[in-house]
Amino acid sequence: MKTGIYGGTFNPPHLGHITAARAVFELLKLDKLLLIPAGDPPHKQLPAGAPSKEQRLQLARYAADALGLGDRVEVLDLELRRTGKSYTAETLEELYRQYPGSEFWLLMGTDMFLTLQAWHEPETVLSMAGIAAFGRTETDTEELFSVQRSYLYKTYPQARIFTLTIPGVIDVSSTELRDRLAKGEGVNLLPPAVYGYILREGLYGTHADLKHLTLEQLRPAALSYLKHKRIPHVLGTEQEAIRLAERWGGDVEKARRAALLHDCTKKLDMTQQKELCAHYGIELDALEQTALKLLHAKTGAAVAADVFGTDDEITSAIRWHTTGRANMTLLEKIIYLADYIEPNRDFPGLTELRRTCYEDLNAGLLMGLEMTITEMEERGNPVHHATLAARDALKG
Ligand SMILES: [Fe+2]
Ligand SMILES: [Fe+2]
Repeated sequence: MKTGIYGGTFNPPHLGHITAARAVFELLKLDKLLLIPAGDPPHKQLPAGAPSKEQRLQLARYAADALGLGDRVEVLDLELRRTGKSYTAETLEELYRQYPGSEFWLLMGTDMFLTLQAWHEPETVLSMAGIAAFGRTETDTEELFSVQRSYLYKTYPQARIFTLTIPGVIDVSSTELRDRLAKGEGVNLLPPAVYGYILREGLYGTHADLKHLTLEQLRPAALSYLKHKRIPHVLGTEQEAIRLAERWGGDVEKARRAALLHDCTKKLDMTQQKELCAHYGIELDALEQTALKLLHAKTGAAVAADVFGTDDEITSAIRWHTTGRANMTLLEKIIYLADYIEPNRDFPGLTELRRTCYEDLNAGLLMGLEMTITEMEERGNPVHHATLAARDALKG
């Protein structure tokens, strides 16, 4: 198994890290990538607004998810847990025990590569792992790499070295990025969920008021609640909600906010859902006790109101987006249908449903509800009473 090891402070992880990690992963045909946030330097006072170890671990997890490599990426906290100075040689020894039979490759930027011989026990490091060094900028020329490469090969004959310049890699230093974040800039240099988490936690001097976020701030904050693979669905729902609201005279801004937050608790499992229900005093009927899919609408509405201060109209649209209910408000209908027909969806009858939604909203809603009911019945699943009531109310 070919395993890449990418260590760093990741404070914060940005698109430069993501681009480099993806490029090396592909070029070296790695099977696995381990992201290892470095421990805090001993006795160093962290500046105000600096993330804690737990927050840096969380930031690295968001970055790992943003790589889109699924479970081929893992974030390890072994260096964060270590007290005192942390050495790569030590980490490699631990990884050899944890991942026996792996062929390790250390990912590193130019600075690290050019100073390799000054590391702690370079011969141990070079005997245990190959080096994958990437130029962070177009100006990191092959010339610079080749001098160091031949020096290392001569000094450490067992070394394996792979160097590459990644064209278009975003050259940004984390120090500069932190300064820019404090000024409300630099957003485009981060994966959205990383930025959303920074906002939610108020890191790097961001101080956003979560209950009064602009749409541009709410979007990444909402995306930071999702698994990476669900992001297109939620952005698609936002787009569809805009179109439906414009078509039927709904409040576009509210539709966008509801769409962005509608699945904010979708990634939680049954235990976590029930914890949230207990926390918010949400009561569950018999069907909801066992149907995970139904719970996220209720818990999502509670989180949206509690964390982001959504008003009753938005909260209620999130609350009913899965089952629908009798006599839905315009915003409830828009969110229910936007979720149903957003551009990433694909199922038989979708074209007809989309057309109907833009011709006659209630007819579209009835069609959607009936399709759901039929599908549930065909699968032998119980249908929620609110869905039946929604259909019956429309049929009059
Ligand atoms: Fe949902
Ligand atoms: Fe959804």
